[in-house]
Amino acid sequence: MKKTRIGIIGVGIIGEQHLINYATDDRVEVAAACDINPARLTEMCDKYGIPNRYENIGRFLDRDDLDTVDVCLHNHLHAPVSIEVMRRGRHAYCEKPMAGTFADARDMHDASRKYGRMLHIQLAYLYQLETQVAKRFIDSGDLGRIYHARSTGFRRRGRPFVDGYATKEFVNSDWSGGGALFDMAVYHISQLLYLLGNPEPERITGKVYQEIGMDPVRREISGYNVEEFGCGFARFKDGLTMDIVESWAAHLDGFGGSAIMGSEAGIRLEPLSFHTTRHDVQSDTTFDLDAMKYREGTVFAERSRHYASSQKHWVSALRGEAELLDTAGIALHTSLIQAGIFLSGTLGREVTAEEVKALSKSAARVIPNLT
Ligand SMILES: NC(=O)c1ccc[n+]([C@@H]2O[C@H](COP(=O)([O-])OP(=O)(O)OC[C@H]3O[C@@H](n4cnc5c(N)ncnc54)[C@H](O)[C@@H]3O)[C@@H](O)[C@H]2O)c1
Repeated sequence: MKKTRIGIIGVGIIGEQHLINYATDDRVEVAAACDINPARLTEMCDKYGIPNRYENIGRFLDRDDLDTVDVCLHNHLHAPVSIEVMRRGRHAYCEKPMAGTFADARDMHDASRKYGRMLHIQLAYLYQLETQVAKRFIDSGDLGRIYHARSTGFRRRGRPFVDGYATKEFVNSDWSGGGALFDMAVYHISQLLYLLGNPEPERITGKVYQEIGMDPVRREISGYNVEEFGCGFARFKDGLTMDIVESWAAHLDGFGGSAIMGSEAGIRLEPLSFHTTRHDVQSDTTFDLDAMKYREGTVFAERSRHYASSQKHWVSALRGEAELLDTAGIALHTSLIQAGIFLSGTLGREVTAEEVKALSKSAARVIPNLT
């Protein structure tokens, strides 16, 4: 079996998670890695047996033996590096969020068409068993006419860096573009858009907040300037609506989880449950996901591998074993909703998708180590 040859740029926290996934895929060979931090590069390449190491992105991309390049850099480098990868004729796989602004996400989407290369965005929640089960129910029509979705994500005290985990770039908009809406909401909104068939956003309202105190030393080091909480409401072309609450930090005990409501039934995604009324009696169903997981891994092992994770799905798509989910299209609509919430908060009113598209600007960084 010919192995799919992968190159990875950025072997930090999430880069290593990708390497762990590739290490359990016998169809894959990670042939080269690039990181601007030589100590981290050596550590990761030694640990995962990667033979070719680069600190310079340009020289890394001069290689002509890579089937794809996996971009695990901070948000404002997603667009310039992914576009450069595709311009040089490689299929690009990029971490979430798609980019730090809607304009940059759109440039990535356009570049995929322009250069005729596949673009895949890491949207982990699409591969959860909960999502796969919910999709079966939705696609079979069990929910009836779907009219509203609720996107929620909750951390009580979990802002990156200032509350502990992860690096300072997450909380500085010069690197990230935003906070909780860019980091976590991406997963929850994209999960719902996928389940709903990626409807087109038409109008958005919302606001973002930073109200809760934090460690002053870490605030200073990071230049913390992003939202810890965002809320919004989106209207889609076909009349569907979605409300959004996303928190990195809030004085509350939870939001209750994302959900989809239809005329015949509703689904809650976390934990997964199905709710309906039969013969005039309300009925609530829970699911045995462990049993499903066992069967998926045995009886349906071949099929389930294609959707086992974002990385495995990408490898299956590259090899023509599965059709690539439209993660770039879903991530682009997710980015539009995020940008709409920010713009609405700034203008103090509901905004149209056309306004967001017209006003969004690139915040992409110049790639420091391209030449
Ligand atoms: N940390 C997480 O749990 C997590 C989860 C999901 C998604 N992500 C996403 O992954 C991305 C990276 O986050 P992270 O947590 O891995 O950050 P990180 O800081 O741990 O890793 C980033 C890596 O990129 C390297 N790098 C920076 N500039 C570079 C350049 N010009 N050329 C080559 N290498 C360069 C850094 O040296 C570092 O090793 C972000 O977009 C984030 O949203 C992170």
